[in-house]
Amino acid sequence: MSLISQLDKENIPRHIAFIMDGNGRWAKSRGQHRLFGHSSGVESVKEIIKTSRELGVEYLTMYAFSTENWSRPTDEIEGLMNLLVEAISNEVDEMDAKNVRLLTIGNIKGLPGNCYDSLCQAMERTKNNTALTLVLALNYSARQEILNASMQAHQLMLQSKISPEELTEEIFASLLQTKEIPDPELLIRTSGECRISNFLLWQLSYTELLFTETHWPDFRREAFIDAICKYQKRERRFGMVSEQIKNTNE
Ligand code: IPE
Ligand code: IPE
Ligand code: MG
Repeated sequence: MSLISQLDKENIPRHIAFIMDGNGRWAKSRGQHRLFGHSSGVESVKEIIKTSRELGVEYLTMYAFSTENWSRPTDEIEGLMNLLVEAISNEVDEMDAKNVRLLTIGNIKGLPGNCYDSLCQAMERTKNNTALTLVLALNYSARQEILNASMQAHQLMLQSKISPEELTEEIFASLLQTKEIPDPELLIRTSGECRISNFLLWQLSYTELLFTETHWPDFRREAFIDAICKYQKRERRFGMVSEQIKNTNE
């Protein structure tokens, strides 16, 4: 039986988030430079987008560069930024043709000017696309995102637009960069590390977390479908007991 036929088409996650990890280790194990791992990782991104279109996944959020990644060697940072510009310029036509919208989270103004410009152009060009939204997390820190939302909430209070008692989870979530994006049902982190590394701390509250040993450049269609199969075997209880979930599903 093919892998894809094992999937329950009625239970495909709407939003899948990825911590794309292991590019460096993958390259090292092949005696190659880390950047070779990053460029091979772009091929995985392309395959995941394609498969997501096929399966009907509506949102993908991909952690591509954390605020902590500025601590890496300068040549690696430069290589990553160049790769980003190259990937966008190579892929924007195809993305647009396939009805994919590009969004970003993180402080993209802090990226080199050419990265910022090419991201803005690609976002503008694809802004009306509706099949799939690809959210790239770039220069992203979840703690910073939460702090910024807190500062905005404080401003609303100073301007008497809301009182402190009126601040709800919904209002707070609307001040995050992910406003208008549903929380992910599934987070996949490749390469064996079992940590969140400052990614989507608010949004992942009830997300199913899936950690796989596969390095990101090897994470292709089969691994992705296999991960969704594993997700579909989980029971999402949201604080309830199993019997309640079974009753609502019947
Ligand atoms: C993930 O792969 C890509 C980025 C963080 C930009 P890594 O570069 O972290 O690869 P490892 O973890 O060193 O193997
Ligand atoms: C997380 O990977 C960030 C991205 C995938 C962009 P890292 O490789 O930077 O994470 P740590 O430092 O091992 O937690
Ligand atoms: Mg890593």
